Order: sequence, then C-alpha cells, then structure tokens
Amino acid sequence: MRVSVLGTGYLGATHAACLSAWGHEVVGVDTDPDRIETLASGRAPFREPGLDELLSAGVQSGRLSFHTRLDAAREADVHFVCVGTPQCRDGSAADLSALWHLLRALAPMLERPCVVVGRSTVPVGTARAVRELLQCSSPVGSQVQVAWNPEFLREGRAVADSLHPDRLVVGAEDNAAQACLREVYAQVVAAGVPYLVTDLATAELAKVAANTMLAARLSLVNLLGEVCEVADANVADLVTVLGHDARIGAQFLQPGLGFGGGCLPKDIRAFAARAEELGVGTELVGAVDTVNMRQRDRAVDKAIRLVDGDVTEARITVLGAAFKAGSDDVRDSPALDVAGRLHAHGANVTVHDPQALANAARAHPDLCYQPDLDGACRDADALLLLTDWDDYRALDPVALRQLVRSPRVLDGRLALDPAKWRAAGWTVAALGR
Ligand code: UDX
Repeated sequence: MRVSVLGTGYLGATHAACLSAWGHEVVGVDTDPDRIETLASGRAPFREPGLDELLSAGVQSGRLSFHTRLDAAREADVHFVCVGTPQCRDGSAADLSALWHLLRALAPMLERPCVVVGRSTVPVGTARAVRELLQCSSPVGSQVQVAWNPEFLREGRAVADSLHPDRLVVGAEDNAAQACLREVYAQVVAAGVPYLVTDLATAELAKVAANTMLAARLSLVNLLGEVCEVADANVADLVTVLGHDARIGAQFLQPGLGFGGGCLPKDIRAFAARAEELGVGTELVGAVDTVNMRQRDRAVDKAIRLVDGDVTEARITVLGAAFKAGSDDVRDSPALDVAGRLHAHGANVTVHDPQALANAARAHPDLCYQPDLDGACRDADALLLLTDWDDYRALDPVALRQLVRSPRVLDGRLALDPAKWRAAGWTVAALGR
C-alpha cells in the first residue's frame, strides 16, 4: 500500500520504518529539515535499538523516503498522523496546535478516497472533530475516512514493540477504514497479535488509559515505599511478594524516583484535564501525580541530609540524566530535575550518563557534565544513583571508595545491594528503604 507518515519523532520515525519493513511504500514528512536529512540517509535522529537497520534497509530498497514538503504525501492511500501533542505551556491539557495545523494543510490535498489514521495521543473526542474537519475541507468530502490507532511504544523498545505488539487497537466506525487498517497490519495480524476494533472515542482513550493505569501502579508502589521507610520494612521484598499475585503481576513495580519521560506525566495530566472538562472528578489522577513528584522532593531532601546539610560546600555526582535506562531522552527526567534542584540549592553538581549527556546539556546548560564515570565520581561528597543503567548496578563499591572524597550514596532506584556497599564502608541512603 502507499502510506504516508506525518510527523517523524520517536513514534513516526519508528512507524515509518516498520511499515516499510512490512512491504508498504512509505513517505515520511516532517517540518524539521535536519531530522528529515538524517532519516533520509537511513539513520535515526535519536537512540533507538534496531531502528537504524530498519531505516537504512527501507531507504536502500526505495520503499521509504523522507520529505519536508507535505505535498509528497498526496498520493498515499493511508495517512498516519504522528505529530507531537505535548503538554500546554500554560496548563495541563494537551497542546493540539501541531495536529490542527497539519490537518488544515492536509485536507485540501486529499483529492482521492483515503483513510487518515491518528496515532498521536489526543483528548477523547478529537477524532470525531478531525473527521468533521477533513470531510468538510477535502475535495472528496466523505470519501476521506478517519480511524484512530493508538501506539503503545516504549522508548528503547520501540522497534520490538512495533513489530511484535501486545495488541493492535483500531478505532474505526466505517468498514472501508477497518478493511484498510487490516491490510496495513496484515503481517502482524497473521502472527496472531490480538486485533481489537473499537469506536473512535474508545481507541483515543486506550493510550491514556494504559498510561494512567501504569502511572497509578508506580505511585502506589512508591507510596508503599514511603510507608516501608518509616515502618522499617523493605519495599523491594514487598513488591516481590506483590508480583507473585497473578492478579497484580511483577512488571512495572520497580519503586524509586518515580516516572518521567515524554508520555506518562503529560498523558495523565491531559487525561485529567479532559475528564474534568467532561465533568468527571479526577482526584485519583491528581494524587498519582502528587505522589510521583513527591519522590523528587524526597530525593533532594535525602541528598541534602546525606551531605549533613552542607549543600553549598558539597560536590554531588548525579548518576543518570535519561528519564529511564536504555534511552537518551531527558524529557521530564526525574534525575535531571533532582540534579537541577540541588544545583539551585548551591551544590556543585556533576552529572554522568552513558547515553543522554548531549540531550541533557541542551536541556540544562547550567549543569556540569562528565562523560567519564570515574571522572564524574572523583572527589565526590555524595553519589546519587537516579537512573538505573546497568553500568551503575555494576559499580564496584570497593574500587569506587578510593575515588570519592566521602563514601556516601543515595540509591534512588533501589539498584544497589546495600549490604555490599555498607561492607565496603559506604553510608547508603535509599528511596523506599
Ligand atoms: C510509556 C508506556 O510504557 C508506553 O506504552 C507508551 O506508549 C509511552 O509511555 P516510556 O515513556 O518509553 O513508555 O517509558 P516506560 O518504560 O513506560 O517508563 C516510564 C517511566 O516510569 C520511566 O521514568 C521509568 O523509569 C519509570 N518506571 C517504569 C519506574 O519507575 N518503575 C517501573 O517499574 C517502570
């Protein structure tokens, strides 16, 4: 099929590469010329395992091309809308300006019957408004169908999640749109992946519903961690016990500094904003956000206590800048937030990360960065492990003790063995323990 992918961020670039791997003819469009140049050369503009290989295979086969002009998408039978829907600067709702801007430009170009498929995360009710706009403004009117097909990609696993998803969700209220998406995903459906057809509104909700459930789970775990601390219980053991309950399951139960990134925080806020608009009280979602942000406050307090309150004299090394291990993304990174707050308290903060330093330096040019792990730890008064990269789990407390000025560590991700570190002479603080 001839397919266009409009917007080539994490979602769009990965989707375009996978569509071409499934044999479709794919045109990717984005307004950012640097991004398009990189993609057109068969490389990903961000770190995503397996994506470079798919992109270069697609570009070399001639099935995948990238453009800055929307006009290049004109001939497609299916258009996937993958533009960003960030949090509004002045509130918690989703900013849909990029989406409407794109659709207003696209509508007059839709001169033949086609399906426009939303993949961006949007407030429930948007898809029906999209359908109205496109059918009113396109020369072929109601021959433009609209479907919604939310993505559930995790950064760092986006290619695997696309090629082997848990489920495919297709919101389509029209047979032609349903048939078209079945054809697009024929290979995945043939592999036995559950293919769930819903109405437009349910499909729109599917993404924020999943992220709200995940976020709620993490905040509940972190609340349990707070109780464990004061009750002298062990949250790591507690979540192991919980995880053996088949109704609860063991995934997404890792306590610590809480969630960040480009999706969970903004999705739960946008979901709450939309639910409030619809007259539904969202105290529960507000509490999830509050407990999550409180972990960052707690990490800052604990770090200050770790250096005996002497924060302006302290040299603090923050291990981790990415919002999670396996990604170079620093959007709403809990680790960088804590680093920035300690810097604002007057601490001398050095940040290390195996992958995310370039992005971190762009987002927080005020902080000091050190790409060499030993160099970052040398003469530190406290280490704060805030992103759970394997490199940090593998640290040798005996060797490291020789490098630092004071052997004090805050384990913000429960990644270290406290007995081993204490035996090597370290003072060990942790979130949840
Ligand atoms: C998330 C969803 O998982 C994905 O389905 C959706 O499409 C996009 O948003 P992602 O943002 O890549 O994916 O990150 P995810 O792996 O879900 O982690 C989110 C945050 O939760 C990270 O900051 C991570 O460190 C934190 N987390 C995750 C925990 O603190 N504990 C856990 O057990 C799992």
